[in-house]
Order: sequence, then C-alpha cells, then structure tokens
Amino acid sequence: MSARPKAVRREARAKINVFLRVLGAREDGYHDLQSLVVPISLADLVTVEPADALRVEVEGAPELAGEGPGGLNLALVAALALADACPEASGALVRIEKRIPVAGGLGGGSADAAATLHALNELWGCHVDPLTLAGIGEHIGSDVPAMLAGEPVLMTGRGERLVPASCSELHWVLVDLGFGVRSPEAYRWWDEDGGHTGPDPEPLLAAAAAGDADAIAPLLFNDLEAPVVARHPAIGEARARVLDGGALGAVMSGSGSSVVGLARDETHAHALAAAVGGIAVVGPAAGGR
Ligand code: C5P
Repeated sequence: MSARPKAVRREARAKINVFLRVLGAREDGYHDLQSLVVPISLADLVTVEPADALRVEVEGAPELAGEGPGGLNLALVAALALADACPEASGALVRIEKRIPVAGGLGGGSADAAATLHALNELWGCHVDPLTLAGIGEHIGSDVPAMLAGEPVLMTGRGERLVPASCSELHWVLVDLGFGVRSPEAYRWWDEDGGHTGPDPEPLLAAAAAGDADAIAPLLFNDLEAPVVARHPAIGEARARVLDGGALGAVMSGSGSSVVGLARDETHAHALAAAVGGIAVVGPAAGGR
C-alpha cells in the first residue's frame, strides 16, 4: 500500500467571466449560456487532513458555514459527493482560508468545492479520473466543472459543457462591492427584463487569444449586468468609477456584484487599484495546486 499524504493543500482560484452571454431560459429552471471563464490570481486556500469525521472549517468568513443548498457549505457538499464515489474515503477536516469575496460573481464557493474535490481525491487515494470528477462537480454547481479545469474555458450549456479556450495573460483591477447577488435572482431579473442576448463572442475570443487588451476592452459584456445594475445601482457606479479611473474596459463578473476593469499592464493595474480602491489581479493565473 502506498503511503497516504498527511495533508494536501490547494489554491482555490477565483474566476472572472470575460464575457457572459445568456441564450435563453430552459425548462429545468436553468439558462443556456456561453461564457469565457478565466481563473485569476485571487484565491482561497484549502487544506485537507485526515480526521474521524467529515468537517469543514472556514477561516475569514465564518458566515459561510451554511452557505450552500440545504444550508451546507459547497466544500462539504463536494466532500460528501466524493466520499460516495470513493471506496477509500474516510473522515477529513477541510480548512478553508477565505480571501475571495462571498457571492461576488467570482466563483468562490465553486472554487472551494473544486479544490476540495482535487485535494480529497489525493488525500484519500481515490484516483477518480478528471471526467468523473467533472460529473460529480456538475451536480454541486454549474460553475464547479469550470473551476475543476483550472484553466481558461469556453463554457456552454448551463455551465457544464467546457472546451479549453485560449486567453493570454491580462491584468485586471477587481472591485469588491461588499455585498453579494444570488445567481437565481440575477437570472430571474434577466427573464423579467425581457432577456437580452449579447453579440456573437467570436471577435472577443479572437482578441483574447491574441492577448490584445485594446481590442478586448470594448468587447467585454455580461448579459446579466443590466438587469442586476437596475436593482443594484452601486454596481453601475463602481463600473463607471473604474472606467473614469482609466481602465480600458470594465464589466460585472458572473451574477455580480464584483466589477473587473481591464488594465494595459501590471503597473497600470496597480495604479488603477490604488485609484478606485480595488485589487490588482492577473488572469489567467496558472496553478490551483
Ligand atoms: O448551478 P447553481 O447552483 O450555481 O445555480 C444556481 C441558480 O442559478 C440556479 O438554480 C438557477 O436559478 C440559476 N442559474 C441559471 N442558469 C445557469 C446557472 C445558474 O438559471 N446556467
């Protein structure tokens, strides 16, 4: 028998949606979408170690203990789902050091779930293959398969269909509004407001692959932004501040509330961050381990 690791530590990277195009509502309550999802340098830290029972501790955001479906933290949902699929599973303590704003459209909960799946797969020696892991992730949340991938992906379906996407390294300023927006509400507001679908993303995908920030900037879009901003004007004000501060372009990430501004380079991102009270991040950021 090979020795099991004593503990496994993983970075749970946040994501931004460079564009998010909502195609329409589906019978099952979800919406079909297209989105370029890019992992960024902002990350939570997930550490798993053997324990008698399965337990999740969150440092930095204790209110997260009961965040997910049925009042469960998404990382705990992930741990339970992997335990079901893995005969070698036993107890584990999952510790999450929280840095990603909660419900900010940055995929924090999904990133924690994905990092927990990867880390427990290793700790328990499950050897669950990536495709099966993605299948487990899909049942935890629409963003989890993309977060498991840990690289830029073009996401379609309700979020579970992924193809690797080419996106050069870009520098962004991220503004955390300090409040969350629940995804079901954002999508419901999109329905209520007539369901506008944005443009063909091909030009944006080509500009992202080429790493041409000036070409990308005017093409950034998020179909959830207008309906969410209509209910939360502070998000629109933050976006305007980022643009006034000199960002090449700005867009809300995911279902909000975070706003990201595109910078020319790293120095520009730090200057913007200081000017608008945000943080400088790079994406795509490699790693996740
Ligand atoms: O999959 P997840 O649990 O993250 O989705 C939360 C909610 O967000 C769904 O119940 C649905 O209301 C909405 N949603 C959607 N279309 C998607 C993803 C999420 O309508 N593609």
